Amino acid sequence: MKNKVIVTGGTGYIGSHTAVELIADGFDVVIIDNLYNSDITVLDGIQAITGIKPRFYDYDICDRIKLNEVFIAEGKVDAIIHFAAYKAVGESVRKPLEYYRNNLVSLMNLLEMMEQHGTSALVFSSSCTVYGQPDTLPVTESSPVREAVSPYGYTKQIGEIIIRDAMAARQMQKAISLRYFNPIGAHPTAYIGELPHGVPENLVPFITQTAIGLRDELRVFGNDYNTPDGSCIRDYLHVVDLAKAHVVALKRLLEGQNKANYEVFNLGMGKGVSVLEAIAAFERATGEKVRYSVTARRPGDIEKIWADPSLANRELKWKTEITLDEAMETAWRWEKKIRNK
Ligand code: NAD
Ligand code: WQD
Repeated sequence: MKNKVIVTGGTGYIGSHTAVELIADGFDVVIIDNLYNSDITVLDGIQAITGIKPRFYDYDICDRIKLNEVFIAEGKVDAIIHFAAYKAVGESVRKPLEYYRNNLVSLMNLLEMMEQHGTSALVFSSSCTVYGQPDTLPVTESSPVREAVSPYGYTKQIGEIIIRDAMAARQMQKAISLRYFNPIGAHPTAYIGELPHGVPENLVPFITQTAIGLRDELRVFGNDYNTPDGSCIRDYLHVVDLAKAHVVALKRLLEGQNKANYEVFNLGMGKGVSVLEAIAAFERATGEKVRYSVTARRPGDIEKIWADPSLANRELKWKTEITLDEAMETAWRWEKKIRNK
């Protein structure tokens, strides 16, 4: 019998890539997503890659009654991967209560369902945002969690604490929080990728939209930081590498290889890349030019951060395999596909 996993937010960017890797690994995948930030056609993309269309529930995870219906309809659910959340940092400052409600009520509902329906394993989407600007780099999992710069960041910090405390009180359940650094790129088939609504906040969709002519120019937010070229440094990793980490994390829990019933892992390439280097990588990988100008710093941006992924390398036997240039090339392939170019 296949292990059954509920993927919340499974038509979203990272969730859809993870659904593909889970199906490829033999999991029975059930997606719950209210399509707030994704499109139903993503299911066709998943099917085009894997040959299987996951069962899908267009439900809000904050709705406990609907959520309970899914667990009743599905019978035994072995595990949950919880991606569903609002994720726009700037918007969260303007709409804090919506962010706290959506990101935390959904998580608490799922933790209650796990208890009620005997689901033993949870993998949670956390973020490097929990570290703020670390004093020492690269950041390990034991680096201090810092004051968040946004309600979004707090939802991840509080989410981790809620899971930690719930697991401490429960014998039969276990969870892993995965702290993603900066996921980029798209599936190499270009059947699925990132679908930002409106003007993208993130760097790589802005680069690809500028290169395709949708935006006049990219603004590089500051070149006066204390970094070699003055622009901010991040740890970009390909979304398929990130998706694969979820499969190994889930198997660790289901096969009982975990060392504690709550664990945390950084997921990154372990390499810092500046904004200007990211633009250069895109141009090198695609042969396209990106128009850009340097503007003021973006409020709330941290100067530099990159991961020490050695715990995940060692314990999950996972490491990134896709290079920055390859990642940029897949992002470009996806941009051209969705613009019919
Ligand atoms: P995404 O917006 O593409 O996917 C999230 C999905 O969740 C969307 O399809 C949305 O419709 C759905 N959703 C949101 N609230 C819901 C609700 N109440 N009920 C049902 N569905 C709901 O985002 P993503 O980039 O794939 O991010 C996935 C997770 O990873 C999020 O938790 C995000 O905070 C976290 N994360 C993302 C990044 C990043 O840079 N993309 C980095 C670190 C962490
Ligand atoms: C990357 C770099 C910008 C756009 C965000 C969230 C974080 C996590 C990942 C979820 C920065 C620069 C960007 C542009 C630019 N998400 N930039 N011009 O800020 O590292 O992290 O996504 O958990 O919580 O805050 O990612 O892609 O927005 O920016 O110069 O138009 O690109 O200043 O240095 P960020 P990003």
